[in-house]
Amino acid sequence: MRAIVVVGGQWGDEGKGRIVDLLAEKAHVVARYSAGNNAGHTVVNALGEFRLHLVPAGIFYPDKLCLIGNGVVVDPAVLLEEIEELESRGVSVRGRLFVSDRAHVSMPWHPIIDSLDEGLRGKHSIGTTGRGVGPAFVDKVGRVGIRMGDLVERESLLERLSLVLPYKNVFLEKAYGAEPLSLDRVFEEYAEYGARLAPFVADTADLVQDALRRDETVLLEGAQGSLLDLDVGTYEYVTSSVPSSLAGGACVGMGLGPTHISAVVGVYKSYITRVGNGPMPTELTDETGVMLREGGPRPEYGATTGRPRRCGWFDAVAARHSARANGLTAAALTRLDVLDQFATIRVCTAYRLDGHVTDKFPASAAVLARAKPIYEEVPGWQTATSGIRRFKDLPPQARAYVSRIEEILEAPVHLVSVGPEREQAIVIRPIL
Ligand code: GDP
Ligand code: IMO
Ligand code: MG
Repeated sequence: MRAIVVVGGQWGDEGKGRIVDLLAEKAHVVARYSAGNNAGHTVVNALGEFRLHLVPAGIFYPDKLCLIGNGVVVDPAVLLEEIEELESRGVSVRGRLFVSDRAHVSMPWHPIIDSLDEGLRGKHSIGTTGRGVGPAFVDKVGRVGIRMGDLVERESLLERLSLVLPYKNVFLEKAYGAEPLSLDRVFEEYAEYGARLAPFVADTADLVQDALRRDETVLLEGAQGSLLDLDVGTYEYVTSSVPSSLAGGACVGMGLGPTHISAVVGVYKSYITRVGNGPMPTELTDETGVMLREGGPRPEYGATTGRPRRCGWFDAVAARHSARANGLTAAALTRLDVLDQFATIRVCTAYRLDGHVTDKFPASAAVLARAKPIYEEVPGWQTATSGIRRFKDLPPQARAYVSRIEEILEAPVHLVSVGPEREQAIVIRPIL
C-alpha cells in the first residue's frame, strides 16, 4: 500500500503537473485533493502541451484512475471544458475520471464576490486568480456550500439553491451594492451542468481506499504551494483552500488517514517565483529577474491567468520552513536548466530583519516584507543541461547545487527536471 503526496514547496507553479505526469507511469491512481481551478498544471508530453486546472495529471495514461477529491472546489463549466478539450485531443476520460460527491461546487456568485472583495481591499488586494475559489471555500466553511452530490440531483439542487441564493443575494445587494442573481437562471444552467457531469460523480474516498487495499500505488497531486497555505504561508497573501494544500491536507481532502501516507515529495524550483501580491524577500526586479523569467524554454507566466511571475533566487529560509511543514521524505528540483545561463548563482540563507540576522520564516507578512535577503554565492556552470539524463553527467557545479538544496531541505533530491518535456528528467533515485 503506497500513497505518495506530491506537494508544492514554494508559492506554487513549481512544476507539480510535470512531475506527476512523469511519476504517474508507475502509479495506478492519481488524485487531486485541494484547491480549485485557481491551479494551472502544465504537462508537455507526446500528446502535446496541456494546462490542467482540475483534472489530475495522470489522465494521459489510458489505464490510470483519476480522482478529484472532496477537498477540491469544482467549477462545473471549467471541468466540462477540460474534459471536452482532452477528448478532442485524443485523451480518453470517461469511466476513469471521477469527482467526489462531497466536493463543493464553484457557483456564479463566487467569481463576482472574488472581484468585489479584491476591489474593497484596494492597495491590500491579494492578487487572486479571480476564479472565485476563495469565496467558494468561505461558503464551504460557512455551511452554505453546494456540493457535487446536490448538483447532479435536480431536486436537491433546487432545494439547496432556494436556501443559498436568496442568502447570497442579500450580501450581493446590501453589502456590495451589486446586482442579485436570478434563481431560475442559475438553476437551469447548473442543472444542465449537473446532468452532464452525473456520470463522473462518485464516492472517491471509497475508490481510493479500495485501490490501497488492492495494494495499488496512489499519487496525491497537490495544488498551489506551501507558502500560499492559510496557516503556514504568508497570511493574508495566501489562498483559501480548506483542506490545506500542504501534504497534511491530502488526507482530509481525499478521505484518507495519516497512516495511509507513505511518502511526501516536495517540488521546488531551482529558484523561486510568485504570482499575485505579498512579500517575497528574494524578488529581483532587475535584469537578473528578467533572465529568470524569460531565460528558459517555458517563460514564467501564470498557467491560469497569464500574469508574469515575480522571480528571484532560491530562498532557503522559506524552503526549510515549507520542507518541515510537509515532513518531506524526498524532493524534486525543477527548472535547473534555467540556471544554465548564470556565471554565479545566489541562494538566500538568512534574512536581515530589523538589525538582526535570522534563519526563521516570520509568521507575519508585514515582518517578512521588511526582511532583506543574505546571500551565499555559488558558481554557475554555463553549460546546457536540458539534454542530460544522468546525474553524473551534470557539470560538477550543478551537482554541488543539487547537494546544497538537499542540505537546505533536509531531504534527498530524487529527481531533477531539466526541461518541460516528460523525458527531460534526471532520476537520481526512483520515487516509485
Ligand atoms: P505547477 O502549477 O506546479 O504544475 O506548475 P506550472 O505548470 O504552473 O508551471 C511550471 C512551468 O514550468 C510550466 O510552464 C512547465 O512546462 C515548466 N517546466 C516544468 N519543469 C521544467 C523544467 O525542468 N525546465 C523548464 N524550462 N520548464 C519546466
Ligand atoms: P498551482 O497549482 C501560483 C495565488 C494567486 C494569489 C493567491 C490567492 O498552479 O501551483 P486565489 O485565486 O487562490 O484566491 O489567489 O494565490 N495562487 C497561485 N499561485 N500557483 C497556483 O496554483 C496558485 N493558486 C493560487 O496568484 O496570489
Ligand atoms: Mg501552476
